[in-house]
Amino acid sequence: MKKIPKSRAGKVNRSVSIIGTGSYVPQRILTNAELEALVDTSDEWITSRTGIRERRIAAEGEATSHMAAKAAQKAMEQAGITAEEIDLIIVATVTPDTSFPATSCWVQKHLGASNAACFDLSAACSGFLYGIEVAQQFISNHTYETVLVVGADKLSTIVNWQDRNTCVLFGDGAGAAVLRYRSGSHGVISTHMGSDGKFSDLLVTPAGGSAMPLTKENIGMNLHCLQMQGRETFKQAVISMAAAAKAALDKAGLTTDDLTCVIPHQANMRIIEALADRLKVPLSKVHVNLDRYGNTSAAAVAIALDEANRSGRFKSGDYILLVVFGGGLTWASSVIEW
Ligand code: UT7
Repeated sequence: MKKIPKSRAGKVNRSVSIIGTGSYVPQRILTNAELEALVDTSDEWITSRTGIRERRIAAEGEATSHMAAKAAQKAMEQAGITAEEIDLIIVATVTPDTSFPATSCWVQKHLGASNAACFDLSAACSGFLYGIEVAQQFISNHTYETVLVVGADKLSTIVNWQDRNTCVLFGDGAGAAVLRYRSGSHGVISTHMGSDGKFSDLLVTPAGGSAMPLTKENIGMNLHCLQMQGRETFKQAVISMAAAAKAALDKAGLTTDDLTCVIPHQANMRIIEALADRLKVPLSKVHVNLDRYGNTSAAAVAIALDEANRSGRFKSGDYILLVVFGGGLTWASSVIEW
């Protein structure tokens, strides 16, 4: 019989479970070879420095909400629920369809989820796991029964396609999860979130908000595009994800030896390797898909979760660790018993 970790013994009386996952990536593949024609880079540099071989780019007219709704449909199908059953839609994104209404309202419209309340969540690449924690709170305090969490981003709209430091890294996509109460010990057993605003300049889109409204001049200087201090972001990513992983494991009363799978943010293979090394987790336990999709921001961990789930990687009772970081800086982690 499976041993219940000490810190959880007697505590689990309302479990919040992921009852369905889904994901969507656009059809258009942008390869490293194509990027060689755009900026001074090479397939060899991108592959060896990041692990990324190709990424997906949304079609013209395909907005963040369209990708989010497609991922959500798949999650709802797997969960066996109708759109009317959704009480709350949270969309984590930094590339909303419109500054308002919220992208979650557009998703509600596409899905016909007429009974849901909707809001967006801005935590950059950490947004999906921030959403999972918010959903978990709402369900465990009985406010809502069924919550749809989507991580979706169309970073191709804010990438500077002349900046080789960033344009090779990102792609578009969406991932979704439906959460609901399910009796038994299954479900989200711990969550952890953190932020440090003193690092806000490391990863930023300077223009387009109230601090610097768009002008012809700042658009001409590409200030409406994403800017990143890569090396420092790399360093902080490893530090914050390792600490976040430990925090979620401690709350769950588990160690890395108990884990069957780790799903980290998909930003750079070298970050994932450094994280696995710090956690002393073999890479064979780590789910990686950045070679095919690059960094899809809030969607990355959600797409990877869906991919691992649908590939049959999880068995009932498995412990899975999700861990992310992103602009803000923000970071988050969660341990789930499948
Ligand atoms: O979701 C969170 C988002 N961000 C991240 O997680 C990114 C974290 N950072 C990284 O992944 C890495 O820092 C990068 C992949 C962005 C850069 O890798 P690096 O090993 O840290 O390279 P670097 O920035 O130290 O640059 C090394 C050299 C520089 O040339 P010089 O100054 O040494 O002559 C860069 O100009 O590599 C050059 N370089 C490139 N060369 C070819 C930077 N980008 C490219 C490129 N192709 N695409």
